[in-house]
Amino acid sequence: MNKIMYLDAAASALKSESVIRAEVDFLQNGYANAGRGICARAAAVDDMIAHARADVARFINARPDQIVFTSGTTDGMNRIVHIINDRACGAGIKNKTVMVSDLDHHSARLPFELLSDSDMCKIVLCPMDENCNLICSDLPRADVFVITAMSNVIGMPQDVASLVAAARKKNPDVITVVDAAQYVVHNKIDVQKWDCDFMCFSAHKIGADTGLGVMYMKNPERWGWPDKFGGGMVSKITGSAAEHNLALQWEDAPAKFEAGTLPLTQIIGLPVAIDYWSANRPNLDLIKYLYDRLSGNSRIKIITPRDATLFTFYVPDMHILDFGASVGARGVCLRVGNMCASWIHKVLGIRGTARVSVGPWNTMDDVRQAADIIESVVK
Ligand SMILES: Cc1ncc(COP(=O)(O)O)c(C=O)c1O
Repeated sequence: MNKIMYLDAAASALKSESVIRAEVDFLQNGYANAGRGICARAAAVDDMIAHARADVARFINARPDQIVFTSGTTDGMNRIVHIINDRACGAGIKNKTVMVSDLDHHSARLPFELLSDSDMCKIVLCPMDENCNLICSDLPRADVFVITAMSNVIGMPQDVASLVAAARKKNPDVITVVDAAQYVVHNKIDVQKWDCDFMCFSAHKIGADTGLGVMYMKNPERWGWPDKFGGGMVSKITGSAAEHNLALQWEDAPAKFEAGTLPLTQIIGLPVAIDYWSANRPNLDLIKYLYDRLSGNSRIKIITPRDATLFTFYVPDMHILDFGASVGARGVCLRVGNMCASWIHKVLGIRGTARVSVGPWNTMDDVRQAADIIESVVK
């Protein structure tokens, strides 16, 4: 059997022993629900969740009450649309202008595109230079600004702080929303430096489990209504819908935004993953090696710069799915297709690309063998 070279960290990271052990230990020895019980075991789980929240807050330079656990970046981005469009904010984003960019992943832009499609808001584009970097000059005025901190196709960090500041110059009330799903993999996030209103990432991209994400809210109390309703988020209910006098008193944030049982096991694993990942970031020399080795190959068109966090390319005259299947059959696990980022592919004039991304588990040997196989397949 072929050796498997898992070169798809940007899609989802493999899990460290420490994360697996923490989750198994919790499931075997400490499991109970959080925020529901008063027995010692339930209290211990409450403590673990509080500690995890505090660790996540430290990780991105935020306060614990600004951290809301979601099920992932997609969930966070969709929820933000509803939170900022809430009924306590009057018209919400109706008739407002939402600035998106061609770097966006479908999960960051589609929720707003769909609102625009039903004439709820107007979409404008953030300008981008010829190297696919978002630029601050000539930003259109916007009420909401969706910023992809690092594209999952181009793999270059964007200057989020300057983009936020430039958008605020045009409109001091602009709501800035950062998709940090890829940025968090390679860079330290500082939400205070960015000064954004919202930021989302997925735990599974930094070696924690699936089904868990983080949504940072700069001012949780600013948003009168939560977007989800259920257990754990309401402290008092008076009146009734039948008598049209239902009144709800929310718990304080973040509980107000965390209706229902949280993904406890995944949350327990997250601080362990953060520790592991912070000490073992992916070695980007592997990406540079691929760039140097394959940039001379006339059959391959590389679209990422040498110092990107990803190696993205295509093979003219070869269907990218055929390419992916051929290298995949020989053990090279990479991503092919439009990467859920169809806008950047449209800008580049190509239907699909292949993407190599590395995690802490990958070695120079992996990329050397992958390059051998890629070269033999495109020959
Ligand atoms: C830039 C970017 N945004 C958003 C997402 C969506 O993340 P998830 O599928 O974990 O919700 C991804 C996942 O690939 C991504 O790369």
